[in-house]
Amino acid sequence: DKSGATITALDIDNGYIIPTFKALENHEQHVLSMPTWNAENDDILICAYPKSGTHWLWEVTCMLLKGKAERIKRVKEDVMIEGMTKDRYEKEPVPRVFNTHILFKYLPEDFRKKRCKILYVLRNPKDVAVSYYNHHSKIREYEYDGKWEPYLDRYIEGNVDYGSWFDYTVDWERVMKEDPEYPVHMMYYEDMKENGMREIQRLAKFLEVDRDEKFIREVDELCQFDRMKKDKDKIENADEWKNGQPGMYRKGQVGDWKNWFTVSQSEKFDVIYDEKMKNSNVKIRFTI
Ligand code: A3P
Repeated sequence: DKSGATITALDIDNGYIIPTFKALENHEQHVLSMPTWNAENDDILICAYPKSGTHWLWEVTCMLLKGKAERIKRVKEDVMIEGMTKDRYEKEPVPRVFNTHILFKYLPEDFRKKRCKILYVLRNPKDVAVSYYNHHSKIREYEYDGKWEPYLDRYIEGNVDYGSWFDYTVDWERVMKEDPEYPVHMMYYEDMKENGMREIQRLAKFLEVDRDEKFIREVDELCQFDRMKKDKDKIENADEWKNGQPGMYRKGQVGDWKNWFTVSQSEKFDVIYDEKMKNSNVKIRFTI
């Protein structure tokens, strides 16, 4: 797959640019300097492989912590650590809720020292593949116009920005195993789709915020896909997208992969999944 020269595999130690953040000056040094940045005690970090529902959970988390007025004010890219200058990172008002797709080992070490809470979001990697394909082929910066089939191979190999879904997921499991007391709350996209109320209630408990049932229900309703898409599309930067239509909120479903994967692609993926995830305990559901 020769198209899309600017989608490169994550290789932080040997030079690494995330195409959508390339406007950031000295991006490489910036990313490499992140481990030395300071954290605040009540910082919250949302960690996820791209296209796993980071925007959604960031919105939910901000509303739980800061109230409904926080809603639809900003786009999640504004608070992605790897896309922020150090200055902006330091000026972010508390309580701070950051997003990142970078492996834990590259993040500010102070998060670990201060035991800042982490919300770790997972989504089944077939829907992620489809969502990421649309992301790469529709966002101008990537200059990517490859077809789905070669893209899928490329995704499986991890030859995309942020690398392989498998490596990311296995790495998080290792981090949690090495430090079982670390406050990490795992959330699955599929569980959120299935029962948002239950999941948001669990999240509120983890965040130690006291919100009544009515509030939780409102958060759930305000963060439903159609509602969020309508509101967020107004503040997304439409120019970033090739067709001039904001595409971050695309379909928001579980199982859309069935419209993209052929039976043989799906079977091949399953074999690779079983091999790569054989020692894993994550409970991924490809359908609900
Ligand atoms: P699709 O491309 O499958 O629609 P991220 O925020 O990590 O980049 O993930 C983007 C994916 O989450 C997109 O998936 C997007 O539509 C979906 N998403 C965003 N908000 C959502 C919501 N409120 N409910 C369900 N899915 C949502």
